[in-house]
Amino acid sequence: MVRDIIIWPDPILKQVAKPVDRVDDGIRRLLDDMAETMYAADGVGLAAPQVGVLQRVIVIDVSPRQEGQKLLHLVNPEIVRTEGTRVYTEGCLSIPGEAEDVERADKVWVRALGRDGKKFELECDELLAIAVQHEYDHLQGTMFVDHLSSLKRELIRRRMKKLKLEQAEERAEDRADMVKGASKHESAL
Ligand code: NI
Repeated sequence: MVRDIIIWPDPILKQVAKPVDRVDDGIRRLLDDMAETMYAADGVGLAAPQVGVLQRVIVIDVSPRQEGQKLLHLVNPEIVRTEGTRVYTEGCLSIPGEAEDVERADKVWVRALGRDGKKFELECDELLAIAVQHEYDHLQGTMFVDHLSSLKRELIRRRMKKLKLEQAEERAEDRADMVKGASKHESAL
């Protein structure tokens, strides 16, 4: 099931997510929904807080842009080692239409539980390394815009607030249309 993606700024996106106690069917359903939501939005990564769930769960699939990659499920991820630095132009599904340069580690080693609840470690480079750091940030309540100057961040915040207002207005119009449509098709009581 595709879930709604929360648009920044939102208080949920600023909170630290809680560790998962056990990878059970509920967590697997969350992982599946998150992957579906990520693909529907043409994203390469999604963290649970972005769909309003404050748990340490991430999905990543950079295969469209990095060879040899596949869908990854990361539960309770930990970045155990980093190497070097690199600047990459990042976007975020919670900040649609925006992209800015962010400095990250060039390479990271991540330890996490998989969909089967088993622990694994993964060496990540290129876009995968960026995605792991970006999504891990979400679990800490940090957005990529938090790495920018306050001037840039405030400009983006203003644009996002406008976008959210427009979306709310559209939804209100849709609802009004539905009510009008219903009264046409159903007998008035
Ligand atoms: Ni993001």
